[in-house]
Amino acid sequence: MWINIAAGSHRTGARGRVIELDRVHRMDAFEGLSRLPDESVDLVLTDPPYNIASAGRTTIVRGQIMSTQKAWGSWDSLDAAAYDAMIQRLVAECYRVLKPGGSFYMFSAREQNGVFIRYAEQCGFSYRNQLAIVKTTPLPSMAKKNWRSAFELCLYVVKGTDSRPGMPGTFNFVSQKELVNVYYHPSCAKVTRHPTEKPFEMMKRIVRVSSNPGDLVLDPFMGSGTTAAACVETGRRFVGFETNPEYIKMANGRILAGRKAA
Ligand SMILES: C[S@@+](CC[C@H](N)C(=O)[O-])C[C@H]1O[C@@H](n2cnc3c(N)ncnc32)[C@H](O)[C@@H]1O
Repeated sequence: MWINIAAGSHRTGARGRVIELDRVHRMDAFEGLSRLPDESVDLVLTDPPYNIASAGRTTIVRGQIMSTQKAWGSWDSLDAAAYDAMIQRLVAECYRVLKPGGSFYMFSAREQNGVFIRYAEQCGFSYRNQLAIVKTTPLPSMAKKNWRSAFELCLYVVKGTDSRPGMPGTFNFVSQKELVNVYYHPSCAKVTRHPTEKPFEMMKRIVRVSSNPGDLVLDPFMGSGTTAAACVETGRRFVGFETNPEYIKMANGRILAGRKAA
């Protein structure tokens, strides 16, 4: 198995397949992951489907109230057992491709977060923290029978054990102010039409803190390419996968704009 980052490609000797870096590939996440060699990635930053879309759960898209199932499409509503198996497989694959000491950040629905931290620990990751996005302009409670939902969580774990000298591998402590694990964000501040676009500044901060310029960052569920855009702006290499061609177009637009601005 060999790796050739300088030439812009990865190759696994086992199957002889090449994967180009600095691109969002139209590919299933697990197909893409299978092409990456062991211990070849410095940071995984990903936002997989939360599996919370349903006919009865509403959201607002460009001023219109609609079900999350209609707004987000079929990618966010899998059978519960299939979803659980998918996340376990994702965590295990990310562990395999990360270098020792590499960081793994994964957003997930609040109700699942604790379970997913346990899956990560079972693989050999060490729990470090959780980051919260606090929405300063949350959606109203439509039925007025529950609290308004105003935060999302992202788990942060590191490959290897806490007792190992030098753990975690990369942690660039920027400042006390910037390293608080809560990020305030107005829900309306989006740059694309992707229904679940993540805050760019927060993603950029994670990339800066947990990787170094020239490092390779992986996002197997790129969506509108927020992770890729953050990498372009901070001088990291990236590789990512996404199945929806409309979202890939959005990602490519952001990557191109970032490269032009650099
Ligand atoms: C939560 S969204 C990611 C949003 C992204 N963080 C952003 O800022 O735009 C998850 C994405 O995963 C994609 N997706 C779902 N299943 C996939 C799969 N098996 N392989 C690759 N992408 C997939 C969906 O199309 C969706 O765009």
